[in-house]
Amino acid sequence: MALYNILVVGSGGREHALAWAFAKSPKVNKIFVAPGNGGTATGSSKVVNVAIDSGDFEKLKAFAVENQVRLVVPGPEQPLVDGIADAFKKVGIPCFGPSQAAARIEGSKAFSKDFMKRHNIPTARYQNFTDFEKAKAYIESLPYSVVIKASGLAAGKGVLIPESKEEAIAGLKSIMLDHTFGSAGNEVVVEERMEGEEASILAITDGYTIVTLPAAQDHKRINDGDQGLNTGGMGAYAPAPVVTKSLMQDIRRTILQPSIDGMRREGFPFVGVLFAGLMITASGPKVIEFNCRFGDPEVQTVLPLLEERCDLAELLLAASEGRLDSVPLFLSERHACTVVVAAGGYPNAYAKGKPITVHQSTTPDVSVFHAGTAISNGQLVTAGGRVIAVTAVADTLEKAIHLARENVSLIQFEQMHYRRDIGHRALSRLLNSQGTTYAEAGVSIDAGNLLVDKIKPLVKSTSRSGADAVIGGFGGLFDLKAAGFRDPVLVSGTDGVGTKLKIAFAVGKHDTIGIDCVAMNVNDVVVQGGEPLFFLDYYACGKLEVDTARDVIAGVAAGCAESGCALVGGETSEMPGLLEAGDYDIAGFVVGAVERDAVLPKLSEMVAGDVLLGLKSSGVHSNGYSLVRHIIAKAGLDYFSPCPFAPEKTIGEVLLTPTRIYVKQLLPSIRKGLIKGMSHITGGGFIDNIPRSLPKHLGVVVDASKWVYPEVFRWLKRTGNVADAEMARTFNNGIGMVLVVAKDKVEQVRALLAEANEPVIEMGELVERSSLNGHEVVVKNTEAAWN
Ligand code: AMP
Ligand code: GLY
Repeated sequence: MALYNILVVGSGGREHALAWAFAKSPKVNKIFVAPGNGGTATGSSKVVNVAIDSGDFEKLKAFAVENQVRLVVPGPEQPLVDGIADAFKKVGIPCFGPSQAAARIEGSKAFSKDFMKRHNIPTARYQNFTDFEKAKAYIESLPYSVVIKASGLAAGKGVLIPESKEEAIAGLKSIMLDHTFGSAGNEVVVEERMEGEEASILAITDGYTIVTLPAAQDHKRINDGDQGLNTGGMGAYAPAPVVTKSLMQDIRRTILQPSIDGMRREGFPFVGVLFAGLMITASGPKVIEFNCRFGDPEVQTVLPLLEERCDLAELLLAASEGRLDSVPLFLSERHACTVVVAAGGYPNAYAKGKPITVHQSTTPDVSVFHAGTAISNGQLVTAGGRVIAVTAVADTLEKAIHLARENVSLIQFEQMHYRRDIGHRALSRLLNSQGTTYAEAGVSIDAGNLLVDKIKPLVKSTSRSGADAVIGGFGGLFDLKAAGFRDPVLVSGTDGVGTKLKIAFAVGKHDTIGIDCVAMNVNDVVVQGGEPLFFLDYYACGKLEVDTARDVIAGVAAGCAESGCALVGGETSEMPGLLEAGDYDIAGFVVGAVERDAVLPKLSEMVAGDVLLGLKSSGVHSNGYSLVRHIIAKAGLDYFSPCPFAPEKTIGEVLLTPTRIYVKQLLPSIRKGLIKGMSHITGGGFIDNIPRSLPKHLGVVVDASKWVYPEVFRWLKRTGNVADAEMARTFNNGIGMVLVVAKDKVEQVRALLAEANEPVIEMGELVERSSLNGHEVVVKNTEAAWN
């Protein structure tokens, strides 16, 4: 077997851990660490320090070429951002790390946020600024708390989390005007402050495939209880229980894969490890920041979780050669915790050169990784802020945390400082939930409660006589007498929106779908003469995204308000495993009432010669979307293409136009007894829907030349080459509601509808069915109508 050499670039704890893991590989001969630390100088005989600075690419290249280096692994971000991977590409040595172009994902936060926005990767709302006054005005205008970030590299310190607007402006000033972080602060990102628990995900990638290491949780603050100044990281544990299995799948699907794919498609494929710093918010995981390298101390925590048979050197070599899928990752089922020991004074000024004693651990489950250490005159001394770390592995997280805390005593030096509470979140989680929690199974009660808070005011706005429309109870009440009914008959309906949802998903616009849902229900009730009184919705999703759900329910509330019915309740159901994370369905149920003598249709009163009046539709409404999607796909268009017949809008926007609601304009005519029957033109077009409210002996003749077929239907017909009959059976072709009215009442109905600004189309008449050759509906003049 041909052995090979690896060059690790850097001098921290991360680089010691990498060298330690590579040393286990039977395929690796030597691991050179440039410049390395006291740990890489004294550990395995395979590991050798090389006195070359991590920024001196020329010397590093020359060394690598001379010493048969087969793989270069840069540890820190700075050389990556400065183009070390490009430098090694020139000499043909594989480098496990991103190109300079791809490293911008960490090197420029403004770039990274814009990238996420382009690819719909969940992250906090934000804006980038190079102008202080504009940034200040923006912060002042926001109704929520912000975080301010220097866009460039600032050694992990360029993020401010102000507690007030004043503090925010002062921070902004120090970054932009006083240049506290130098040129890194020439541009700033101002973003919404997110709430939740943090997690670090390390995703190894060759630019196509990704392999994730167990989620870790870092501890950024210097003192116990997450108090004090920010540091590079004072300890970590993994796997972090906040990232459940299903959440990890969501993270891969909504964050990691789209990022890797997006970078490749934009021309800067990312090879190396993409480190996603995440906030697990009530509405799902969101990216806090991306880093272009392994985390420190996260990597000291996760590498000991690789199984013995898992060869990290082979894995990273495969990734840097674009064949990551050729080497498997084997993770143990164990847990790990790392406690970092820092120099007194860190993260402010600290002393160097203090002698360190490291006692030998009695168990192979404990490892010591050096960071800021050096050998001086044969003595191990401190040489940095974060000096050294202890990692312990055990069969449970609790044991790993305790073992790591106990073994800090292996380390001794003057003024050493470390946190005694690393792993506290995991421990309190364990205490709070003996056994599996609902959240671990992928259902978030917090998100559910947040949603209820957000929709309460929307729901309240639909109050009407008879119903309060207050949610939070178990069901809705309705007082029919208070609503003024004498002898009511109840009418009900239930419906959903169908595959129109797919367009909302594709376009990411969710605030009109609820209107469709209500329209489909209330239109079914009004055709029976019913006045819609109250509505309940059912929202089912794979993962409760609070903002999406709020938008959908806002649409439901708007539809209820438009049709005059109260939204008295609903149910939100999160069903991971049954529905995909980004998917949802919305359905509803309406109850209306009609006075007994006004129930429609009045079949016995209908006669040949009655007139068919049509009310306009707003577009495709909620039917025929499977055909619509098919036509669009066949035409090679997508929903973001400009609409061919309304170029100021996209196809998606046009197709999402909500279904019309025909309630308030029709109730006066219904109450006056002017209407004999009605048909809501839904699935089946008017060929199938009109006869639903006719007696057996009558049929209709529709004159298609009486109205202009809207452009959307003409375009669908042309583009999909759809036959007339198919169009009439699938779509409403411009008419959403049809009324049967006696000839002598037409003018009265027309006048009442005109008061509601509803134009009427006299579209046909009732005839004896026997005159129609066995048909129920005959449409004449269609050719003329389409031309
Ligand atoms: P749940 O926890 O789903 O039972 O919801 C708590 C309260 O919020 C109940 O009173 C529900 O009626 C109301 N609610 C939940 N989801 C919705 C929704 N999608 N639309 C209207 N009300 C809802
Ligand atoms: N521990 C956080 C980082 O490596 O950036």
